[in-house]
Amino acid sequence: MRLIQRTAGTGLSSPERDFLAIEGLPVAELRRLLDHAQELLPVAVGDAPSLDRLRGRVVANIFFEDSTRTRVSFEMAARRLGADVVLLGSSGSSASKGETLIDTALNIEAMGVDALVVRTSISGGAALVANAVRCPVINAGDGRHEHPTQALLDVLALRLRLGDVTGRKVAIVGDIANSRVARSTTHALVALGAHVLIVGPPTLVPRGFEQLAEGPGKISIHHDIDAIIREVDAIMMLRIQLERAAGSGIAPDYRSTYGLTSVRRKLLRAGVPILHPGPVNRGVEIDEEVADDPVDSVILAQVSCGVAARMAVLLRALCP
Ligand code: NCD
Repeated sequence: MRLIQRTAGTGLSSPERDFLAIEGLPVAELRRLLDHAQELLPVAVGDAPSLDRLRGRVVANIFFEDSTRTRVSFEMAARRLGADVVLLGSSGSSASKGETLIDTALNIEAMGVDALVVRTSISGGAALVANAVRCPVINAGDGRHEHPTQALLDVLALRLRLGDVTGRKVAIVGDIANSRVARSTTHALVALGAHVLIVGPPTLVPRGFEQLAEGPGKISIHHDIDAIIREVDAIMMLRIQLERAAGSGIAPDYRSTYGLTSVRRKLLRAGVPILHPGPVNRGVEIDEEVADDPVDSVILAQVSCGVAARMAVLLRALCP
């Protein structure tokens, strides 16, 4: 019998099984995860029977920030692989009594869980947990830092529509400064050789963002969506993350200057896929009928890809 006895900071986690960021992930590993996720897609969406590769294993979801898609998707992914899942949210947990994220993670690990999936408002929080515990840690979004499984699902959804993303032009539009999705997905696309066009008001695009990522692809910054919209192969709209931009609101002209309105959407070339990580603020960054377009909106396909991407990441963590 092995009882866990140690203090934070002495964890012996295995970095090759953690999934904390796209930045620094070898491109071969990124491609392998994408291929594996694509292979797992029929199981993820229920077209093929669930697997039992994680039978007897327990995945703990520690979600200290609100989530709909990511939380349920990790749970679905674990269940489709036969694992048991436990969930801890910030409300109803001892986080409300001042317990730290690390103490929480150590206590959950001491109950014998096999992997921790962590969402936190602390940028870099997932790595802090990984340094403290021994089991694999998967980042489900840490502050403004990264959301690496979102990047996998975004690229997978793009691959299903465009094939290889190498050489493709992908616009990411909106609140770049507060978006971990923009960071992770940009890292992945640049690593795979795509051209990422970052579009947003100057106040919402961090200075130097064009130097964010290394790889064969590139990043360019734009403040006028209409100047680039005709040339893109895909477009991803982002929500304004008011919860991270204290004190500011959405400018009254945001929809007309940056939103993917029904009128502006006509400037896209035919068949260009429209992405959004959710949650969608209809009528702000994207118009209702654009978000619901039955052909070009891939917003729900992204969600399906999310289950497959998380299955691939859980298998990498627990069945290396
Ligand atoms: C994103 C997130 O939480 O970072 N959502 C998601 O995980 N699908 C984006 C957002 O909150 O706007």
